[in-house]
Amino acid sequence: MSATVEGKRPVPPDIRARKGGVPLVMLTAYTTPVARLVDPHCDMVLVGDSLGMVLHGLPSTLGVTMEMMILHGQAVARGLSRAMLVVDMPFGAYEEGPAQAFRNAARLMAETGAAAVKLEGGAHMAETIAFLAARGVPVMAHVGLTPQAVNTLGGYRVQGRGGDADRIREDAAAVAGAGAFAVVLEKVPDALAAEITRSLPIPTIGIGASADCDGQVLVVDDMLGLFTAFRPKFVKRYAELGAEADRAIAAYAAEVRARRFPAPEHVFGAEPGR
Ligand code: KIV
Repeated sequence: MSATVEGKRPVPPDIRARKGGVPLVMLTAYTTPVARLVDPHCDMVLVGDSLGMVLHGLPSTLGVTMEMMILHGQAVARGLSRAMLVVDMPFGAYEEGPAQAFRNAARLMAETGAAAVKLEGGAHMAETIAFLAARGVPVMAHVGLTPQAVNTLGGYRVQGRGGDADRIREDAAAVAGAGAFAVVLEKVPDALAAEITRSLPIPTIGIGASADCDGQVLVVDDMLGLFTAFRPKFVKRYAELGAEADRAIAAYAAEVRARRFPAPEHVFGAEPGR
């Protein structure tokens, strides 16, 4: 089943209605060409704030700004015609309270055409999620490992092991109760993610979570082998495009140095048509 199985581009209520059905497919994209590649295969495309690390070389997602999200959101929107666009709320754009969150979420949606925003946080974000949902902003929540909280979590570790499981259960229940249409579960134990998926009325989208989630998401540069600075356990490489690009660039450099590029077919003659 694909995003357009009924010939209609999905909107958040369609995604919510897929609870317990054929797993939802989501990938990130940050540019128009990559959006065009993922669009036919995905139900949802996420302009994640991971773009700070993946595209801009930042050490974490904390330096990502609204302007970066809007610029990349607009680029991705130009490449999509089938999948639903979701844009991340960057760090500092929503945590002050519901009014700040609404102002920035409305700007993201208006300027990118996104159908929904994603924000990180569980029980403490429930009031904000309810405020947004009641005012026309569909919210995808994100609990478990929330990378914007890396400094308070003490690193990018698995969340919800042992006695910590109740915190994740409560976070997931709180965001669902507040009106999120779906929730990302990042880096939580397999059995806990499966249990939360069974207990929630909304779809769970796993990343380092469980095959029992209602859907999966990966960072596209990770699964294509383009981002190689580090590789979390949950990343499966479906291609090695980084290695292929290295081979191609090395071949180009060697041909330039040997004057084998450009060849006659790449240059122009003095006469038209040559
Ligand atoms: O920023 C991002 O790309 C994300 C996904 C990994 C879920 O939040």
